[in-house]
Amino acid sequence: MSKILITGGAGFIGSHAALHFASKGWDVRILDNLSRGQLLKKEDPNFDYNWNRLGDESRIERIRGDVRESSIVDDAVDGCDAVLHAAAQTAVTTSTVDPATDFSVNALGTFNVLDAIRKTGGKAAFLYCSTNKVYGENVNQVPIEELESRYQFTGDFTHGIPETFGVDLCEHTPYGCSKLTGDLYAQDFAHLYGIRSGVFRMSCIFGTHQFGMEDQGWVAWFIIAALRGAPLTVFGDGKQVRDVLWAGDLVRAYEAFLERGPKHGVYNMGGGSEFTLSLRELLGALDELGHGVEPATGPWRPSDQKVYISDIRKAQKELGWSPEVTPKEGVRRITAWVKENASLFSHLR
Ligand SMILES: NC(=O)c1ccc[n+]([C@@H]2O[C@H](COP(=O)([O-])OP(=O)(O)OC[C@H]3O[C@@H](n4cnc5c(N)ncnc54)[C@H](O)[C@@H]3O)[C@@H](O)[C@H]2O)c1
Repeated sequence: MSKILITGGAGFIGSHAALHFASKGWDVRILDNLSRGQLLKKEDPNFDYNWNRLGDESRIERIRGDVRESSIVDDAVDGCDAVLHAAAQTAVTTSTVDPATDFSVNALGTFNVLDAIRKTGGKAAFLYCSTNKVYGENVNQVPIEELESRYQFTGDFTHGIPETFGVDLCEHTPYGCSKLTGDLYAQDFAHLYGIRSGVFRMSCIFGTHQFGMEDQGWVAWFIIAALRGAPLTVFGDGKQVRDVLWAGDLVRAYEAFLERGPKHGVYNMGGGSEFTLSLRELLGALDELGHGVEPATGPWRPSDQKVYISDIRKAQKELGWSPEVTPKEGVRRITAWVKENASLFSHLR
C-alpha cells in the first residue's frame, strides 16, 4: 500500500485521516469541492480551513472537484491502492428539505467512486464512511429506560447495536436512505467485483478541527456555542445518548482494516458502550470546565434516536482495535482547541 485517495479530505474526518496516513508514510490525494457550508445552508467562514491546513503537507496532493462528476473521480482514483470515501452531504435536516442534492452527493457520489475502482480493475481497497442512520427508526424499538441524565438500552442491547440489526420496514430519512444506498453498493461491489471493502457504520465522531453546527457535529457545536456565548438549543429533553468516538481513534480503525482486516467487513463504529455521552452530561462536563451555559429548549427533531450505542465488539475482534480517548478527555481537548483558535469562531455570537 502506498497511495490513498480521500474524498471529502477537506472535511472533519477526511482531514484527520489525511494527516494520519501522511504521517504513516502514505502518499495522500484528497478530492473535495469545499461545499460543506453550502450543503448545510449556513454561513461558514471556515469552509476552506482544513483544505488550507493540508496544503502545507508535502505528502498531500489536493484536487478540488465534485464526486458527482465521474470523469474527475476516475482520474482521482487512478493509481491509488486505497480510497477512503468521506465526501457527503452530512446533515439529516438538509436531506429532508433538499433530498435531491442529498441523493446525488451521497448515492451517486458513492457509486461513482466504487465504479471508478471497478473500472481500474478493482485494485484499490474501499473504505466507506457509512452511518448508524442506516438502522433508521428500528433503533427506537429497542427497549430503553430513563435515568436522571440519560436514556439507556436495556435487555439484549446493553453492548449496543450490532451489525446484524434490521434496516428494513422503518423510516430512515433521506440521509439514512442515501447513505444506506452507498453502504449496499460497497457490499455488492465487494461480492460482485472482488473489491476489498470496509464499511464503517459510524455513530458520533468527535474531535478537534470540526466546525460543528446546530445541524451536524453536536459535541463540537455545544462546545463552540458555550465558549462563544452563541445561542444554544437542546432539542428534546437532552437525555439523548450517543457513543462518541475520537477522530484519531477512528482513523486508527481504518488503518487497522487496511493492515489486518478481512477482505470485506461491515463494522458498527463508535466509542461503544464504555464511551457514551448524553447532551445533559456534555453540558455538565462544560460546567465543570468553567463554561456552564443555559440552553433554550426545542421540540424533538424528526428521527432523533433516544439512544444510539454501537456494538463495537466485531471491530475490536477482527481489527485488533479499541478506542482510547474517553468522552471527558475528548471534551477537554476540543475545549482547549476552540480556546486556542478563538478567532475562527469570532463570527458566532
Ligand atoms: N461526523 C460524524 O459524526 C459522522 C457520523 C456518521 C457518518 N459520518 C460520515 O462521515 C463522512 C465525513 O463526515 P464529516 O463529519 O467529516 O463531514 P464534513 O462535512 O466535515 O466533511 C465532508 C466533506 O465532503 C465534502 N463534500 C461534500 N460534497 C461533496 C462533493 N459533491 N464532492 C466532493 N466533496 C464533497 C465537503 O466539502 C466536506 O469537506 C460523511 O460521509 C458522513 O456521512 C460522519
